[in-house]
Amino acid sequence: MIAYFNGQFLPREEIRVSPDDRGFLFADGVYEVIRAYGGKPFKMSEHLKRLARSLKEIRIDFPEVEKLAAVGEKLIAVNNLGEGEYATIYIQITRGAASRKHTFPDEPVPPTVYVAASPGISQRAKIEKGVKIILVPDIRWTRCDIKSVSLLPNVLANQQAKEKGAEEAVFVRNGKITEGSHTNFFMIFDGQVRTHPLNTHILPGITRDIIRDLCRDFKIPFREKLVSEKDLPKAEEMFLSGTSMEVTPVIQVDDWKVGQGTPGSVTVRLREAYKKMLDDFRKS
Ligand code: PDD
Repeated sequence: MIAYFNGQFLPREEIRVSPDDRGFLFADGVYEVIRAYGGKPFKMSEHLKRLARSLKEIRIDFPEVEKLAAVGEKLIAVNNLGEGEYATIYIQITRGAASRKHTFPDEPVPPTVYVAASPGISQRAKIEKGVKIILVPDIRWTRCDIKSVSLLPNVLANQQAKEKGAEEAVFVRNGKITEGSHTNFFMIFDGQVRTHPLNTHILPGITRDIIRDLCRDFKIPFREKLVSEKDLPKAEEMFLSGTSMEVTPVIQVDDWKVGQGTPGSVTVRLREAYKKMLDDFRKS
């Protein structure tokens, strides 16, 4: 596979990251994950806009973010990833390599820029059937709106989910449901779709925005509202959203069933609408 590293297209195995890289030493960097359907990156400009915001929030100066769209497209082409059902583009930018100290480097160093493309892993069966989640305490920092590579709490939570036979861990902060370890989370109460409001406790998901727009188009009531963990069993339906999970129904939480234990009707409508949008995008 060919990947992009600091201005060059190289075989991935030839890329060498410095042990002084602040991404390695401090997780001092940000990232994005984009999916390509039929070789075409989906919502690339939205992802790059979020990347530019993440960079600004952590004060990494990299004005050329928009140029990464062409890098992603080139990686899909040179790696022949246009034919598969989908491919994933990963972008990571760190504050660069400098001798280890907590403050930013005294002399400015160029940020480290890495972009890779790989064949996407199909989540189709999970998206069809629905998945189990577990609830875990949200031990993350309070700037979850920044897509930081500092993902240790997310890694530990997702591993815990795996060990309990679940697909995702959903965080609970101060008794309120926030989001999944790598997804946003939605609940349906009395036919109304509810999700955590946009603030520093969740990532502003690109898929989340699409769901909000689909709800508007289908006249499905949608509300950004905090939901208490104790009210969760009253939800008729639940689902996860994300670049790779798309719209995935949740049919079990810990050891209890959601509704009938099968994907709910509002969820299925949104899942199918999302799928159709992707099909139309692929063909466009
Ligand atoms: N995860 N919340 C968190 C904590 C995430 O890491 C992600 C994305 C989302 C969904 O955002 P979007 O719809 O823009 O993909 C929500 C990516 C895919 C990842 O880390 O692999």
